[in-house]
Amino acid sequence: MRVVDLDRDMSDVIPTGTTRDSEHLFERMTALTLALARPGPGRRVLDVASGFGQDALAMAAQGAHVVGAEPSARMTAWARLKSAEADGPQAQWVRGWSDGLPFADDSFDAALCKGAIDHFDRPDQAIAEMARVVRPGGRVVLAIANFESLACRAARAGDRFRERWLGRAVRRGRRHYDVPADHFTRYEVDLMREQAGEHLELETVRGVSLCWGLPSWTRLVQRLPEKLAFSLLRTADDIAGGMPSLADVVLLAGRPRAL
Ligand SMILES: C[S@@+](CC[C@H](N)C(=O)[O-])C[C@H]1O[C@@H](n2cnc3c(N)ncnc32)[C@H](O)[C@@H]1O
Repeated sequence: MRVVDLDRDMSDVIPTGTTRDSEHLFERMTALTLALARPGPGRRVLDVASGFGQDALAMAAQGAHVVGAEPSARMTAWARLKSAEADGPQAQWVRGWSDGLPFADDSFDAALCKGAIDHFDRPDQAIAEMARVVRPGGRVVLAIANFESLACRAARAGDRFRERWLGRAVRRGRRHYDVPADHFTRYEVDLMREQAGEHLELETVRGVSLCWGLPSWTRLVQRLPEKLAFSLLRTADDIAGGMPSLADVVLLAGRPRAL
């Protein structure tokens, strides 16, 4: 039997809106991922593992013809409900696995997959499928959490120091650098480049956000005046852009390799 998170409840997803660094990370990741797919009028865009469908709807609102592909009945039902409530252009919802996309070769101008590839049991095959359904010269866009980010490394080192040298009790529960139970792969930049590079001519590899989830950083940006906090977050994001190995999330985009 195939083991996937069809009944997930989003409890392991970044808690948006709870802290400024989470809010910033989520908004920035979404804006940059969608922009890389260039969802303009006349463009056909596929959102793989579209979840609740919010990104597919946002791209449809920009004029693109968007298809959201998602295996979970629960997620697809939610997306259909949300789009029935929404005014404006609609996306099309299709049930489908990422490693066997139910579309012909060269059907789309772009395919994106945000925050989901580490949930797939066959991520390599999923990237191959995205490359297959995108036309030559089109674009595949991936947004992936980096478990070797500066924040993960620093938090892990801090916890080790407290536990080994200060004799403090090991923290219980999942720490933000622990891979959630519903992930199949623990990604860092080299693995992302290797897997994506097999099927794509990579044109963009950039980081998004720095220090997300580090308790001292979260507290600092929470306490500063709002304008200053967001300009600090933006500055950290600019640094992360050029240093994907340290960033919280990595965006990879490229053209399908010619077969
Ligand atoms: C964290 S959610 C991300 C959803 C959406 N892309 C977003 O950014 O909100 C992960 C999604 O991956 C889907 N998923 C898990 N395994 C999958 C697979 N093998 N193929 C396609 N989708 C899968 C889940 O049903 C879930 O909707």
